[in-house]
Amino acid sequence: MRKLEQVYEGKAKKVFKTDDPEKFIVDYKDDATAGNGAKKGTIHDKGIINNRVTNHLMKLLEKQGVPTHLVEEISDRETIVKKVSIIPLEVIVRNIAAGSLSKRLGLPEGTKLNKTVLEYCYKDDALGDPMINDYHIFALDIATKEELDLIAEYSFKVNEILTAYLKDLGIELIDFKLEYGKTSDGKIILADEISPDTCRFWDSKTGEKLDKDRFRRDMGGEEDAYKEILRRLIGE
Ligand code: TMP
Repeated sequence: MRKLEQVYEGKAKKVFKTDDPEKFIVDYKDDATAGNGAKKGTIHDKGIINNRVTNHLMKLLEKQGVPTHLVEEISDRETIVKKVSIIPLEVIVRNIAAGSLSKRLGLPEGTKLNKTVLEYCYKDDALGDPMINDYHIFALDIATKEELDLIAEYSFKVNEILTAYLKDLGIELIDFKLEYGKTSDGKIILADEISPDTCRFWDSKTGEKLDKDRFRRDMGGEEDAYKEILRRLIGE
């Protein structure tokens, strides 16, 4: 498959057209941003790790019935994916209070939530990705009721599969963000990435943060944390 012109460059990835009109190539970068672009930096080899971790987890999800955009990993940083139009929603799933939820509700980080929390943010950098609810989503024609029901169902299923899988590797899945896309024939599938950039991973025993919070909060050790996630998932 031939890599053609770039169609998009985001904060962490570039997307290219290919000679197959239904496929794109995603190319993962080492660039890291936080606070909607306010803090910028790089995390050495992050692109390689996020490419491999995302594909590993998407394969697991696909096997257990969650449709994803994954087609084939073609290099350290590049993966062929199905072409979708991204639904402009950040779907956040939370098991344990942390980050913005802790701030908003005054819950100490690490507080177990009695029920899994699902949140939606409207993907719009200029607006700072504001949180919205299902009424906003229908009013703005972001998704239909049927589509949103499916997105919620898939998101809870992803949570169940990943929580159980990571637990066996000594990783607690605190929260994470998903994005979905629509294929040209109208199917909703999981897109974007699932990586230490988009999930909070805490070591089950020590509570050590093994994710992008180390970068967001200037804690240091982000490269080692990303490597540790790759090692536990893939053994390298
Ligand atoms: P938050 O606590 O900052 O709202 O983040 C919740 C989870 O979603 C956390 O695992 C990080 C992830 N996330 C992203 O991947 N991208 C984003 O733009 C935001 C706000 C959160």
